[in-house]
Amino acid sequence: MPTSAQSVLAVALILLAAVVAQALQHPLPDERIYASDPWKPARGDPLGAGGFESSFRTINRRSLLNCFDLNPYVNMTVDTAGPLSDTQNVTVSISGVVNPSDHDWLGVVSPSNASTSNCPDVAVLILATGDTSELPLLCHYPVKFKLLKEDPGYLSCASSQCQVPGLFGSCLVKTCSASITFRLINIRTDIMFVLFTGGLQVPCVVDKAGPLPFANPKAPLYGHISSIDSTGTSMRLTWISGDAAPQTVQYADGSTATSTVGTFTKSNMCEPSAASDFGWHDPGFIHTAVMTGLSPSTQYSYQYGSQAVGLSPSTNFSTPPAAGDDAVTLIIFGDMGKAERDGSSIHYIQPGSISVIDAITTAVSGANVDFVFHIGDISYATGFLVEWDNFLELIQPIASRVPYMTAIGNHERDHPLSGSYYSGTDSGGECGILYYNYFQMPTPAQDKPWYSLESGPIHFTVVSTEHDWKAGSEQYMWIQADLASVNRTRTPWVVYTGHRPMYSSYDSVLNAILPAVDTEYTDAIEPLLLAGKVDLVLAGHVHNYERLCAVYQGKCLVNSTKDTTGLDTYNFTTYAAPVQAVIGMSGFQLDGFKSQVDVWSKVRISEYGYVGIQATRQKLLFEFMFVNMTVGDSFAIVK
Ligand SMILES: *[C@@H]1O[C@H](CO)[C@@H](O)[C@H](O)[C@H]1NC(C)=O
Ligand SMILES: *[C@@H]1O[C@H](CO)[C@@H](O)[C@H](O)[C@H]1NC(C)=O
Ligand SMILES: *[C@@H]1O[C@H](CO)[C@@H](O)[C@H](O)[C@H]1NC(C)=O
Ligand SMILES: *[C@@H]1O[C@H](CO)[C@@H](O)[C@H](O)[C@H]1NC(C)=O
Ligand SMILES: *[C@@H]1O[C@H](CO)[C@@H](O)[C@H](O)[C@H]1NC(C)=O
Ligand SMILES: *[C@@H]1O[C@H](CO)[C@@H](O)[C@H](O)[C@H]1NC(C)=O
Ligand SMILES: *[C@@H]1O[C@H](CO)[C@@H](O)[C@H](O)[C@H]1NC(C)=O
Ligand SMILES: *[C@@H]1O[C@H](CO)[C@@H](O)[C@H](O)[C@H]1NC(C)=O
Repeated sequence: MPTSAQSVLAVALILLAAVVAQALQHPLPDERIYASDPWKPARGDPLGAGGFESSFRTINRRSLLNCFDLNPYVNMTVDTAGPLSDTQNVTVSISGVVNPSDHDWLGVVSPSNASTSNCPDVAVLILATGDTSELPLLCHYPVKFKLLKEDPGYLSCASSQCQVPGLFGSCLVKTCSASITFRLINIRTDIMFVLFTGGLQVPCVVDKAGPLPFANPKAPLYGHISSIDSTGTSMRLTWISGDAAPQTVQYADGSTATSTVGTFTKSNMCEPSAASDFGWHDPGFIHTAVMTGLSPSTQYSYQYGSQAVGLSPSTNFSTPPAAGDDAVTLIIFGDMGKAERDGSSIHYIQPGSISVIDAITTAVSGANVDFVFHIGDISYATGFLVEWDNFLELIQPIASRVPYMTAIGNHERDHPLSGSYYSGTDSGGECGILYYNYFQMPTPAQDKPWYSLESGPIHFTVVSTEHDWKAGSEQYMWIQADLASVNRTRTPWVVYTGHRPMYSSYDSVLNAILPAVDTEYTDAIEPLLLAGKVDLVLAGHVHNYERLCAVYQGKCLVNSTKDTTGLDTYNFTTYAAPVQAVIGMSGFQLDGFKSQVDVWSKVRISEYGYVGIQATRQKLLFEFMFVNMTVGDSFAIVK
């Protein structure tokens, strides 16, 4: 039997090999970005423009050492003594800095007692995650941070103090100040503000302030709803709390339901990974309860919590139309992720996410959105667990009011030797566990994240591109059976959706050698789409908007014609093949397009936005909306 060190090494080498093999086999956009961006620090560009985000992870690989040269005058004050409310802006003032530098930064660390001195000496394990930065390794990571120079008066010393007065009103030692505001949300664990100098490559601790606890670390927060079936009469509500005791949801004038409570530990994460190590943050408890006895297409309200932990505010929500109803309106998109509303840096920022979330919030507030579909690459927390809280807080204005349905993406699931179809490390070791807890969809089993859902005249077949879909696989058989089971009188439209696309004009230096068609996927699945007369195929993964024709085996079997209003219309009275679109333009840094235009590529737009669909029994109207809520592309399918 090998020693544990030997087996750790062996596993790590296997993982490394798998990562390399994966990169060679499936160099789709996210792998490309993942390989070149987040895990690799921008060496030699510690604070340069563009290097910052990717450098962020570098700081996670070091003990938080004190600086050699402790600045004797530094004074950090926080504008509140705490405890903190669930959402609060906190300003940290720093004075007494002798030499303001653009390498000075302020981190938000939580919990305050995180061990930052005993870094695990497992370089090879971290290397297996694709992280090639320098050692010694990480201990604990800041939740977020800002550079002090974000205070415009800092480097110019606009606000100064004289520490050592000289003769005749002169000053022998002058120091400077900065003031930095963070928007903090309740992540249950207490908050410490840590002042660093040395940039991200060689950071050392200058001073600390805090800790500040949250007033109610058990508060019931971040409630979001989802459909459990196609009746529109039962809705699942899922929320987070620091308390393990069951809580209740009160809804619809006096009904109640008691939560079932779940959580997970480090040992549930795939190893070796960020999630099981420096990216870990206590998730608290995930409460979920099903509200039953509702009517479809109806507005209700709910409140959740308990006497012990308090109650959430009352929230209005709507049930979606039942399967077979005449009309439905929904919003669908992929690859949204998150960013910080206060402009802080975090380990993985999706720069368009906030503008898209705000636009969708406006659309949902205007009523007439029955539900929302987020088709993979959900939060991009990728092993930095606290970023799920950030994401859930960001989408709450949407997901608390209309069902937020999801499909799994590579950044939720993939990890070598873990059962994912692709062997990249894209989930940071989460291996789906966080996604499955936060977004409990009506799937056959936890790690079989495929399901179908009907609402109004549409049948949705939602697949996992991250699990085997090859002919004969369990998922393949399910897709075949699901499509065969559709009653086209009840739901005349069938939409197939999953994270990765079959076709894309994604722009890459590798285009010369890489086909734009994932023939492994099309060979397996396109015949099923035709047999099931699927009308529309939607995917993300590539971060732009692209409309294809009604395509099969790379050929356009139906082209659009203009209707009397000039709208591109696909007449499906006689069925031939599904129209396809790539809709991964909801947050992640946008991708371009290759210059060659394949016959199936019809409309290409590299802008942030989301897709709105309005379907009646005769017509499915599809609109790509920019974040300013104007239409970027639209078409209809009629039958
Ligand atoms: C630190 O700054 C605060 C206000 O900015 C001031 O009240 C306090 O006296 C200072 N402390 C020291 C030790 O200088
Ligand atoms: C930090 O404090 C919490 C709560 O007091 C405790 O449960 C935890 O074990 C502590 N962690 C460390 C690393 O000391
Ligand atoms: C919920 O809807 C009711 C009735 O339409 C309205 O009076 C109330 O203000 C709404 N509540 C919220 C929090 O929007
Ligand atoms: C807190 O900060 C955010 C972003 O910096 C800002 O949008 C918000 O209005 C602030 N909230 C309060 C209560 O000041
Ligand atoms: C198909 O749906 C229609 C309309 O809902 C219903 O009347 C019919 O019985 C269904 N057919 C089957 C075979 O279930
Ligand atoms: C659709 O248009 C493409 C050219 O854009 C053409 O190659 C194809 O034959 C057309 N298909 C049909 C069914 O007309
Ligand atoms: C679609 O084509 C059919 C004939 O194939 C025709 O009868 C029908 O009017 C067309 N529909 C529209 C909306 O153009
Ligand atoms: C909306 O945004 C799109 C895409 O950025 C832009 O082309 C268009 O001019 C904008 N329209 C308005 C009215 O601002």
